[in-house]
Amino acid sequence: MNVHWLNGYRPGYGLPRDFYINAEIFAEEQERIFRNNWFFAGHSIELPKSGDYMTLTVGAAPVVVVRDRDGKVHAHHNVCRHRGSIICTKEKGKATRLVCPYHSWSYAHDGQLIGAPMMGEDFDKAEHGLKRVHAEEFDGLIFVNLSDTPSPFHELRDHLSPILKSQGMNRAKIALIRDYELDLNWKLVVENNRECYHCEANHHGYVSVQYDTENDNPDLTDEISERLADCAIRWEKAGLDTARVNTSSDYTAEWFRANRTPVRKGMVTESPDGQLVCDVLMAGFLDPDMGTARANTNINFWCHANSDYAHTVRITPVSPTKTIVRGYWLVDQNAVEGRDYDPEKVAAFHDEVMSEDWEICRRQWIGITSPGFQPGPYSPLKEQNVDRYVRWYARQMGA
Ligand code: FES
Ligand SMILES: [Fe+2]
Repeated sequence: MNVHWLNGYRPGYGLPRDFYINAEIFAEEQERIFRNNWFFAGHSIELPKSGDYMTLTVGAAPVVVVRDRDGKVHAHHNVCRHRGSIICTKEKGKATRLVCPYHSWSYAHDGQLIGAPMMGEDFDKAEHGLKRVHAEEFDGLIFVNLSDTPSPFHELRDHLSPILKSQGMNRAKIALIRDYELDLNWKLVVENNRECYHCEANHHGYVSVQYDTENDNPDLTDEISERLADCAIRWEKAGLDTARVNTSSDYTAEWFRANRTPVRKGMVTESPDGQLVCDVLMAGFLDPDMGTARANTNINFWCHANSDYAHTVRITPVSPTKTIVRGYWLVDQNAVEGRDYDPEKVAAFHDEVMSEDWEICRRQWIGITSPGFQPGPYSPLKEQNVDRYVRWYARQMGA
């Protein structure tokens, strides 16, 4: 990689303009970032049965994720070993075998080539299975990794699972999926997600429910201590992990974090008025005051899970200047639409937060792509996590 790009980066500051618009840097990211990190692919409940598959794009690579007859999830490059056609053409489907639409080579769920008509006697099917992509599934989440030697997944699972397993995302159903197509670089979305410096000025709904802006409001200190003490008792009773109960969003590891945080006094969930938006609680919770389980991972995932619904996000970079953000909203599998919940009401809170964020990012995009842009310093009090993310990114890119 042309090092002068990284030479323009100063730790503690934002990235230079080229990192957001340059096609060569985007191509380099495919190799250094998207080939080497765990990418959130989607939810286990999207593939409930044998043969259910979903397709996605990881950087430049089309990938198919499929569940086999034993319930195991496999991921493969969605690229035929004959002449390279993509095999599964739909975003979701069901297939007893994966059949290439070009010349009908067919593959088992585990990627083995099982049918290749008219290839002659010397042709060795065993040599032409689908190229493997590493896949891991835990607590209702599926992650994939394109690397031949991926970083150990258990680090992530061991850390997130104590917080997320009690949310029951593997016994949930999808209330709503919404795709947001943004004409800007994917890193602006991640960077925006990693700080709440902007919340007080831009997310009035969000800060009326969460305590993220506690530093701006010293008069909340007593209330927060009270809530933390009360919730610690409730959550212990509910069998939740209470080791990481706090209102801070400090990172506990290099490329992921998780915690559980109380919502404001008198409120029980992230909704416009802080009251339940689904009458059936997730995971068999009896007490609705379970706060919000939050997690995020580099490179493309975050989650806010409440007692009545969970919201997760998958970021897919399409080009230097185009990004698709998918929002998922999950409710318990026994909740009935129309009786227990209205999908639009379940989505309302985070849909509003995201719409506000996209407007922030859009305005930033105009400035960042202009010749007048010069990266400024991060706040040491409010932007530690975005600074940390950008430093991580620079290291991945070879700084
Ligand atoms: S390209 Fe797939 S069968 Fe020919
Ligand atoms: Fe935001």
